[in-house]
Amino acid sequence: MAEVVIVESAEDAGEIAASLIETLVLRRADAVLGVATGSTPISTYRTLAAKRLDLTRVRAFALDEYVGLEPGHPESYHSVIHREVTLPLGLSPSLVRVPGDSLTRGADATALDSAAEEYEGAIAAAGGIDLQILGIGATGHIGFNEPGSSLASRTRVKTLMHQTRLDNARFFDSLDDVPRHCITQGLGTILEARQLVLLAFGEHKAEAVAGALEGPVSASTPGSVVQLHPHVTAIVDAAAASRLRFADYYRDAWENRPR
Ligand code: PGA
Repeated sequence: MAEVVIVESAEDAGEIAASLIETLVLRRADAVLGVATGSTPISTYRTLAAKRLDLTRVRAFALDEYVGLEPGHPESYHSVIHREVTLPLGLSPSLVRVPGDSLTRGADATALDSAAEEYEGAIAAAGGIDLQILGIGATGHIGFNEPGSSLASRTRVKTLMHQTRLDNARFFDSLDDVPRHCITQGLGTILEARQLVLLAFGEHKAEAVAGALEGPVSASTPGSVVQLHPHVTAIVDAAAASRLRFADYYRDAWENRPR
C-alpha cells in the first residue's frame, strides 16, 4: 500500500517531497519528473528551488492542460508550469512538456486526439516518468481524470466536472471563463510512472484522500487507482488525513520507520 505521511503543514510536506526529488536527481541528472499544477505542489517547488540544484537536464511532463485557452493565457497550464516550475527550478524550457502544447486555440477533435497520442509517445520516448507529483481534487480526480475515468485510460480529452470548475474559478475572472474541457494524462498513464507522490492539504480534501487511500479501487474515485501502484508516498496534513481510518497506524509507521 501507499506510505502515508501525516505532517503538520504544507511546508513540511514540501520538504519531504522536495527531498524525494533531490534524491532522484542526484542519482540521475536527466531524471523525468511528472509535474502538477494547482495550489498543492507549490511548497514542494519552493523548497526544491531553494536547494539550488542543477536541474537543467531534468525533463518534465505536466499532467494536464485546459482546452480552449491560448497557450499564452496566464492561467493556461503551459503558462503556470513555466512561471511556477520551469523558471524557479531552473529547468530547460525545451525539456518541459504540457499536453497539447503544440495546439492552437480552436483545435478540432482530431487535432486534440493526435496531440494526446503524441504526448503519450513523448513520455515513452523519454523512457517514462521517474517520479510523478500528484494533487487530488475535491472530486477525487488526479490529473483531470474525473469520476468515471477508466482506470486504464491514456492521455485524452475530458470534460471537467462542475465542482472542479468551481474550485478553479478562483484563478479566473468568472466561472464562465473556466474552460469546460481539458486534455489530461490518463489513470493508466499515471500508473506507469515509477514513483507517485500524492499531496493533499485541508479539510476539503479529507473525503477524497480517504476514498483514494482506503476506499475501494473504483473509477468513481479516480485517485483510488494509486492503490494499484507499488511505490506511492502520500503526504497529507492532519486536516486532509482527518477521515483516514488508519491514521494512527500511519503516524506510528512513519515515526518508527526502518532506517
Ligand atoms: P489544488 O488542485 O492543488 O489547487 O487543490 C488539486 C487538483 O485539482 O488536482
